[in-house]
Amino acid sequence: IITAKIAPSLLAADFSQLREQLQQIENADYLHLDVMDGSYVPNMTFGPVVIEDLRDFSELPFDTHLMIENPEDFIEDFAEAGSDIITFHEEAALHSHRVLQQIKNEGCRAGISLNPHTPLANIKYLMPELDMILIMSVNPGFGGQSFIPVMREKISAARDMIERHNSSAELAVDGGIKLDNVDEIVDAGADVIVAGSAIFGKENPAEAVSRFKNRV
Ligand code: DX5
Ligand code: ZN
Repeated sequence: IITAKIAPSLLAADFSQLREQLQQIENADYLHLDVMDGSYVPNMTFGPVVIEDLRDFSELPFDTHLMIENPEDFIEDFAEAGSDIITFHEEAALHSHRVLQQIKNEGCRAGISLNPHTPLANIKYLMPELDMILIMSVNPGFGGQSFIPVMREKISAARDMIERHNSSAELAVDGGIKLDNVDEIVDAGADVIVAGSAIFGKENPAEAVSRFKNRV
């Protein structure tokens, strides 16, 4: 059995009890933090202030997923708030290569995310800079949507691309992942599984994390 890292998405947590919710997923590998600005995506969540306050209550690496316009204007804020990985959308940045360098200059690992329709070719020349590739397997903006089946093919193609470039980038997949489809996603080549509703939507998030890890 191939193992993948599990990154619970806080989007599905009870926002009135974030600190308690964090303590329930300490057996995960990353904490996935979905930042939405109401403009790049039709929903809003939280910004650096919330991340900074949560930082003291978790040992997990913070995997910040920026679904915002003009990501270049906020890299420093999200780095200082305590992000370990910062991922922005290729579609949202005019100068993606520069934004990746900005993230690294802040001492963070740099990731790029692609919406379901965006070709992998768009990141071909960014490969040497990438620490993470985040494939969206739903349209960004909301939790609880269904995995788009054709994304399996994109995950495999991304895996091939990583191998061909001898890249050390982790391949993360985000959206619609449940216990009953995680196997095929990991088999297609995912290194990191982001899951919101399938973890925080459960009564026992820690148990959900370990079930994902053991894939039972
Ligand atoms: C969607 C977010 C996801 C979301 C996934 O825009 O990027 O991280 O929380 O939620 P589920 O796992 O419920 O599809
Ligand atoms: Zn996300």
